[in-house]
Amino acid sequence: MSTAATTAESTSDARSRRFSILAERDINRETYVEEWAEAGLTVTDSPYDPLPGLHIADGQVMEMDGKNRAHFDALDLFIADQALDLSVVEEAMATPSHQIARMLVDINVPQPAIRRLAGGCTPAKLCEIVRQMNVLEMMMGLGKMRVRKTPANQAHVTNWRENPALLAADAAEAALRGFAEIETTVRVARAAPFNALAILVGAQTGRGGVLTQCAVEEALGLRLGIKGLTSYAETLSVYGTEKSFVDGDDTPWSKAFLASAYASRGIKVRFTSGAGSEALMGYAEQCSMLYLEARCLLATKGAGSQGVQNGSISCIALPEALPGGVRAVLAENLLASMLGLECASGNDALASHSALRKTAKLMLQLIPGTDFICSGYSAIPKQDNMFGGGNFDAEDFDDWTVIQRDMQVNGGIRPLNEADAVAARRKAAQALQAIYAELGFPPIREEEVEAAARAHSSDDMPERDMVADLAAADRFLGSAANLADVVAALHRRGFEQVAANLLEMGRQRVAGDYLQPAAIFEDGFSVLSGINDTNDYTGPGSGYRLEGETWDALQRIPQQKSPRDFIDAQIGDPLPNLAEISPARVGANPNEIVVAVGPAYGRSLVKTIGELDHEAVLEALLTGVAQEGFYGRVVRVYHSADCAAIGHTGARLSGSGIAVGMQSRGTTVIQKRGLAPLNNLELFPQSPSLTLEIYQAIGRNAARYAKGLAPLPVGVKVDNGARLRLIVKTTLLHRRETEDVQEKAPQELYFRWEPDV
Ligand code: 5AD
Ligand code: CA
Repeated sequence: MSTAATTAESTSDARSRRFSILAERDINRETYVEEWAEAGLTVTDSPYDPLPGLHIADGQVMEMDGKNRAHFDALDLFIADQALDLSVVEEAMATPSHQIARMLVDINVPQPAIRRLAGGCTPAKLCEIVRQMNVLEMMMGLGKMRVRKTPANQAHVTNWRENPALLAADAAEAALRGFAEIETTVRVARAAPFNALAILVGAQTGRGGVLTQCAVEEALGLRLGIKGLTSYAETLSVYGTEKSFVDGDDTPWSKAFLASAYASRGIKVRFTSGAGSEALMGYAEQCSMLYLEARCLLATKGAGSQGVQNGSISCIALPEALPGGVRAVLAENLLASMLGLECASGNDALASHSALRKTAKLMLQLIPGTDFICSGYSAIPKQDNMFGGGNFDAEDFDDWTVIQRDMQVNGGIRPLNEADAVAARRKAAQALQAIYAELGFPPIREEEVEAAARAHSSDDMPERDMVADLAAADRFLGSAANLADVVAALHRRGFEQVAANLLEMGRQRVAGDYLQPAAIFEDGFSVLSGINDTNDYTGPGSGYRLEGETWDALQRIPQQKSPRDFIDAQIGDPLPNLAEISPARVGANPNEIVVAVGPAYGRSLVKTIGELDHEAVLEALLTGVAQEGFYGRVVRVYHSADCAAIGHTGARLSGSGIAVGMQSRGTTVIQKRGLAPLNNLELFPQSPSLTLEIYQAIGRNAARYAKGLAPLPVGVKVDNGARLRLIVKTTLLHRRETEDVQEKAPQELYFRWEPDV
């Protein structure tokens, strides 16, 4: 440290105001730590990470990433025997990693060429490839390698009270907002069958074809699926070290078996993994999070899962505490896509308090597009999120849709208007109410339906008897009742469309088309997957483009207004007391101040942007001039709508050489003959902040300049938000004034008014 700095520190122990304010910012509520490889706290590069290597003999992997087959742990063995494509391993391992990294970025190399090579890469090799890449290059790679061409999104719908009507309503809204998958979970485990039922019915009320799941313990999860209450499962967690796997009570083989069990019942399967879980579980084996995730992904592929949710998921705050953590999370999304796994790319659990930091991270997945931008966008308020709090919540819907509109990027969420939302929410709650009544569950009351239709959170819901609900849920689970009974109940109560959608979900499960890689349903139950919606990105103009009907729908946010009636408040009939007399001459009276107005002033426009009457503004200016014993002469400039030109023309015509120039929107200048047009005595560009008192002071100052005095410039409060708020209005008011511009000399105006000085 320099002596100067030391001296400065020792002379005062008072804090810097700047630093104390920074210390209170959201960004400083998080934890930042240095890397510590021995504890597993490195994101992409641990000195203990193995180097890539592979040796095959007699069609068997004998050595992988520096380890002999005799020393393989369960993961090594599973990866070597189940995940690696032995037909390409030699070629893949012999291709320099930086060359594969360059292929990922090169638009001339199509996806299948890289996918093929990736199939023959060991975990260490995969890491060596993506370590060469910065986030921009990884985004390029992700945009190309993503399995499904059309990006989508997944929602979380839960609530603290496990209120079924609210779950159904929130699921309906989430479906209408465009989520292709909706996931729920439980606060109380026994609520699972009812929660699964509620979001199933809600989702199918909002939009047929939305896939749903309930994240619970695996055996229960499977039972819910077999009952027809869920259509996908992604609770199959895998970890990158054997000890973590064992602590998770599993092996890669047991996960593969479970995946097959789900798939055999027509349930879509996705595994879960991601940076940080092994360190959190205490068994990182000194390796980087990325290396361990590469092992997870190969285990996932080896187990036959069509996809994965990764991107750290629930552990995200841990990599984000480390240098390069957000880059590492993008790297693991890219690895999943390279391996041909559908990727739900995280952005689910609360990762930061800072809106800026959250948004910045989101761009890494949103801009390239992933199969599911969020592994669970919290379509509910944070306090109702039983996954532990979302990074993006119901309160962020509008931010999200505006960002999509800004960038012309499809992030999988559609704008929704209030009336449609409330109607779908009510209908979903009513459909569930009918099912509860038909199947003898504890009744859903009218007041619950109505509250659910309009609620923000479970705080807005009336109380329910949770004990009775749980008992009924137990009976439902234990009974033979299944999806067919639900469909029949809806049918009996006249909910034909909801019943038809539920029935179709059952039919689709038999068809099994949505078990294809990265499959979702488009509107109308047609499958969109990596097979029939292949990501064919090969540079500009190719791959997914947000255009046509989807772009129309995404840009049409309810907040958008027509620009045509923006300036209705300013438009009016010509002022009867402002008459044009004759062409304006150069004045001879040294006691006169010219007030030069724009071509539309008091003619087609009659109010300023701040909605002051043009008449009152003129009166104020002339009163100010008169207060100094001067005489104001009003002139209209026709040849320009520009404030500087209006003021400059006024000054040329003024007997005193001083003029006030004013546009119709109220922007004003005090100008002096002889000054260059863009130089002036005082300029008031912030027209929305100008009051009649200020206009009067402007008139006074103009006269004082004419007297040869040097008055204190008129003070105007700075409104930093004015331009942001009013720029469209400013544009349209100026456009209106330019429409009145003509090749016509300035005209003398007669303004009839009653001076009160
Ligand atoms: N790795 C593996 N499993 C994870 N989960 C969350 N994050 C990870 C991760 N990084 C699992 C949780 C829970 C579900 C939300 O996903 O254990 O089952
Ligand atoms: Ca999820």
